Amino acid sequence: MSETDEVPVAEAALEARLADVSADAAALRVLLPAELQSLISDAVVRSHKLYEEFVDRLVLRVARETGLEAATREPASAAEVVVRLGLEPRRALVPIDWILRRLTARRTVEEVGAGRRFRSRGVRALPDAAPVREEQQRHDSSWLPSYTLAETVAQDYPAFLRGEIAGEEVLFAPRRLRLWVDYFSNANGQYAVSNHVGAIGVARWLPRAGGVILEVGGGLGSGAVAVLERLEAAGRIGDVRGYRFTELVPAFLRRGQQALEGRFRRPAWLRCDALDMNRPFGEQGVRPGDLAVVYAVNALHVAHDLAFTLGEVHRALAPGGELIVSECVRPHSGQTIYAEFIFNLMETFRAPRLHPVYRPMGGFLTAVEWRAAIEAAGFADVRFVPDIVRVQERVPDYFAAVIGATRPG
Ligand SMILES: C[S@@+](CC[C@H](N)C(=O)[O-])C[C@H]1O[C@@H](n2cnc3c(N)ncnc32)[C@H](O)[C@@H]1O
Repeated sequence: MSETDEVPVAEAALEARLADVSADAAALRVLLPAELQSLISDAVVRSHKLYEEFVDRLVLRVARETGLEAATREPASAAEVVVRLGLEPRRALVPIDWILRRLTARRTVEEVGAGRRFRSRGVRALPDAAPVREEQQRHDSSWLPSYTLAETVAQDYPAFLRGEIAGEEVLFAPRRLRLWVDYFSNANGQYAVSNHVGAIGVARWLPRAGGVILEVGGGLGSGAVAVLERLEAAGRIGDVRGYRFTELVPAFLRRGQQALEGRFRRPAWLRCDALDMNRPFGEQGVRPGDLAVVYAVNALHVAHDLAFTLGEVHRALAPGGELIVSECVRPHSGQTIYAEFIFNLMETFRAPRLHPVYRPMGGFLTAVEWRAAIEAAGFADVRFVPDIVRVQERVPDYFAAVIGATRPG
């Protein structure tokens, strides 16, 4: 097979992406509520497009290193590719399927026939990811922690797919803690968007009478800091009778606690505990009907059994209490979101318990799936800020939203 040149194709792909920045930013100025407009500026839209391209170039590199092009010279399903390449099927199937869909969207691979089989569109010279990173550095260096994380993961991807190293080891080995400190941070321009979108939801929907907020999967505390700072700025910090910051991973919990105690000077209303959202909340010190808000930033989608966790949240909330979650909302079933390149390494992310209606696959959920899952757990008044379905009709790669729902009284 002759080698066609991907480099001009890649330059054209980047140019086409950047050409969409002004049109998408203009559409978002109309579609987003005022509070979100300053957050999702033209500069953020440009960074988002650059990161899309950067991740694609890393995906192309991983595809080359694992021999994916040769394995799709003849049409193959993801499962057949896994077998042809001798990859470890339990972990490789979801990421390989994701990579094939991602490369199909980029037209490096094409889908043929009806049975989700993929064929390479020719071997191409690899585009270099470094110039995209350099452009990001010039444009807004605050996004670089996301670049470093994706690049680090890409290096270990082939070994992970072959079964030589666990994804959790790639992501969470102690030597990688620094990556997460830099990534889950309000100084990371990319991650800050999720934290601030979530904070806008809490400021809008914290019940008038206030009460106790419990955060699930609070990580390193940047989401909590964003919420509490927004409530402070809105003059509502006094309505927070307690903030229960919870997290599963002890090293994250310790850092999160330090961040919050440092920022708010050991407030009496702060409590930091371990909490596993896959286990009954009651046996972890959460009393039924006690909470005004259960909050989470990009955490609920890793619940092993979403119905179970939503049931626990429902039980923990007081009548009239609010579930508030900031999430990357998948625009259409099967569409890829760049963060999945990283998080597909985690078994809890890629392989939760499935449900035919609202959990047909692992990873992020669509708006329709979120609504169905939350309503099935007994919540009412499920709402999204921004109006995500409307926004995604016009800007199909927009995905940051906060979802609210009420436990009926
Ligand atoms: C996207 S991160 C949240 C980051 C956080 N917003 C911050 O500012 O650092 C999701 C978090 O969910 C946690 N998590 C994963 N599985 C969990 C479980 N079963 N129960 C509770 N938390 C869990 C992860 O350790 C991670 O910290």
